[in-house]
Amino acid sequence: MSEELNSAQFVSLFRSVAPYINLFRNKTFVIAFGGKAIAGPLARTLAYDANLLAALGVRLVLVHGARPQIEEELREKGLPSQIHKGYRVTDAETLDCVIDAVGSVYLEIDALLSQGLQDTPMANSRIRVIGGNFITAKPLGVLDGIDMQYAGNIRKIDAEGIRAQLQINNIVLLSCLGASPTGETFNLAMEEVAEATANAIKADKLIFLTDSQGVADRDGALMSELTVDSAERLIESGDWLSPDIRRYLPSAIRASRSGVGRVHLIGFQEDGTLLRELFSREGVGTIITRESLEILRDARPDDIGGLVGLIEPLEAQGILVRRSRELLEREINRFSVIEHDGMIVGCAALYPYGEKQAELACLAVHANYRRYGYGERLMRRVENQARAVGIECLFVLTTVTSHWFKERGFIDQSVDRLPEERRLVYNLQRRSKVLSKPIGSPG
Ligand code: ARG
Repeated sequence: MSEELNSAQFVSLFRSVAPYINLFRNKTFVIAFGGKAIAGPLARTLAYDANLLAALGVRLVLVHGARPQIEEELREKGLPSQIHKGYRVTDAETLDCVIDAVGSVYLEIDALLSQGLQDTPMANSRIRVIGGNFITAKPLGVLDGIDMQYAGNIRKIDAEGIRAQLQINNIVLLSCLGASPTGETFNLAMEEVAEATANAIKADKLIFLTDSQGVADRDGALMSELTVDSAERLIESGDWLSPDIRRYLPSAIRASRSGVGRVHLIGFQEDGTLLRELFSREGVGTIITRESLEILRDARPDDIGGLVGLIEPLEAQGILVRRSRELLEREINRFSVIEHDGMIVGCAALYPYGEKQAELACLAVHANYRRYGYGERLMRRVENQARAVGIECLFVLTTVTSHWFKERGFIDQSVDRLPEERRLVYNLQRRSKVLSKPIGSPG
């Protein structure tokens, strides 16, 4: 984004961000990233953004990996790199390399987080970074006949210890190393540390920074939202997924299933993705939730505020006829709404006239949500409601969107054929087109 914000944009941006600041205060986020994210040019701004979140009162656990750094270390020592089932076969010599690499990445992140940002108001926000023996590991043992040696997985997370640190506003920084009760060090998969930690401390969010923008579909298009079920299906078929997504998705899914409300996969290759994902409605990566964020349902009285917000701009443009708040309140049970992540983004109403005819009225979808087929779903719902009560013909009055209805089976009809009761209130000045559609049989 190169264009500068004008003052109105600045103000509206700030207002749009404020609710998230409020929402995230005292919430617990686990942010996980591989060694690649920290080797890149954006490590510094990433650390800055993490500090920013902490300064806003987010309780933050960072979990880092160190794969490329370990590879580098092995190369220098002339040791082979052997991965089995996603885990590194870790003999004693390899473990030394792992410890060196992880240790230096850890210190690097620690330093990045500690940098005072001179000449910025963040300069004196002192946020402490804490590490510790929060992870107890156990050996993976022998997998398919291969002795994994010092490769391990998680036995236990000291949730209480971590929470105590978060409580006093410290950032907890965890690496992919863990010790066993016998005092041995084990090499762990970063994504499993992140998953286990998020579960143990009952994090509100688990965020993976990845080598791609998020989870892409077969054509490479970003899937902004996934339910955990559809994410699961992807693992089976998605051979196009990027290496990071492939690695992290199973942990993301398990975390979501065990109660982490929101799991995000976002890219680290562009500046500011973390902030854009967290502080906007649409985000820039993929969010995984247990239930869909979209709900199609009957409207309720407490939707009226949201409904007004949705239809007012369309009334102002003359696209919808003006409805008073009182009218909405009276007729709220005629409305269906689509809710997206808690916001009313679409509505439609059904007004029967006599036994056989009904009007599909006030079909509206928020400008930012026009490409998801919400209009279609609302229309279908209203059609089904009409059909269920024996209506045979649905009509609409529209000034500017007749093509949309025509593409969906409506045909022109003369005003004279409207039910009398409706004709009497037909607004001659609006000169709406009347379209109708027989809906007798299902289809
Ligand atoms: N900012 C909101 C959150 O952090 C919504 C993010 C939506 N993200 C997405 N990829 N659709 O929960």
